[in-house]
Amino acid sequence: MRPASRFTSIDISLIRQMNAMAKPSTLNLGIGEPNIPPDAELLAMARAAAEGDWHYSPNAGYVSLRRLIAARHGGAHDPENEVCVTAGTMEALYAIAQGFVDPGDEVLVPDPGFLAYPAIATLTGATPVPYPLVPGSWDVDLAALHRLVTPKTKMLVVNTPSNPTGAILPEPTLRAIAALCDERDILAVSDEVYSEVFYAHRPPSMLGMGRNVVVVDGMSKSHVMTGLRMGWILARAELMATIYKSHQYIATCASVFAQHLAEKILSDGTWNAGWLDGMRAQFATQRDALLAALRREAGLELAPPEGAFYAFFRVPAEDSLALATKAAAESDVLVIPGIAFGDRGEGWLRVSYASDIATIDDGIRRLAPYLRGS
Ligand SMILES: Cc1ncc(COP(=O)(O)O)c(C=O)c1O
Repeated sequence: MRPASRFTSIDISLIRQMNAMAKPSTLNLGIGEPNIPPDAELLAMARAAAEGDWHYSPNAGYVSLRRLIAARHGGAHDPENEVCVTAGTMEALYAIAQGFVDPGDEVLVPDPGFLAYPAIATLTGATPVPYPLVPGSWDVDLAALHRLVTPKTKMLVVNTPSNPTGAILPEPTLRAIAALCDERDILAVSDEVYSEVFYAHRPPSMLGMGRNVVVVDGMSKSHVMTGLRMGWILARAELMATIYKSHQYIATCASVFAQHLAEKILSDGTWNAGWLDGMRAQFATQRDALLAALRREAGLELAPPEGAFYAFFRVPAEDSLALATKAAAESDVLVIPGIAFGDRGEGWLRVSYASDIATIDDGIRRLAPYLRGS
């Protein structure tokens, strides 16, 4: 059976392929999910959530949950018409693209950037067009972005804090992109799934910066809920009318168990604030341990990433996939080659610090010879 032609250029993600190399003994620094176990209160909330209704919820999610989500994002969105609860941020991105992008359109995606963006664009029949981030600061090269806009550009994806770079986009950059999208009638989709995972300062959100801005967020990264599939979309009502239809025919509704749990979490402001502080403190400690290990073992001096739980740095190799594959095969340490995130990621590596400090220390010790090019 021949697969649909839109799948010819799509492969299982390189991150998943790399992770498939992991053995029980592997020191895994490739992981994209928090290593923080749920505390007693979170487990109690999960047990209570299981006692909730198991039937379908409204397609867009329980209104009571949508109210909490709207409040969490500043209260400017109408829970009835401007919030949609989704099966994770991934479904949110897919539903938006399916709702607005036609075959032949162009979709601007960050390079380096999360590898689902070009795949989601391709699955609509559109062409993904990578726009460059400035190496090091990983800010958007706005002049280059402007040059890449054409009459076919329909959607532009922004990601802050970023996977893989860990950078937070400055507010003026977000405002400039929102203005560009309003001026050229482009849908601006801001993926803010790491919005709660930050260190020195809270990332500015793109929400409310323009009429065409749509924000997606969720609880995978903030609350160790990667497997529970809890995400959401905020957009003005006219855009949301199409998103509701798209989401209905993809997912019907998000898991009601995850919705009950999300509702308990977001309505317990005191517990939630404490949890988020604890999560950030643990990642900050692990981040500092990673930076110290890179300095000690490989003589690498990195500026601390501002958000998410990834460090992205240059390696002395032109073929990052070959380097990562060699490190996995010879030294049983797993990292993600930069090429997984686009052509401009080539020559870089993504190391996740969502791991305990012993794994980070041992992993970097094993990785060090490859980082020194020997
Ligand atoms: C930038 C980015 N967006 C979206 C997702 C998907 O998250 P979710 O579990 O909410 O679908 C991920 C997961 O790794 C991610 O890194």
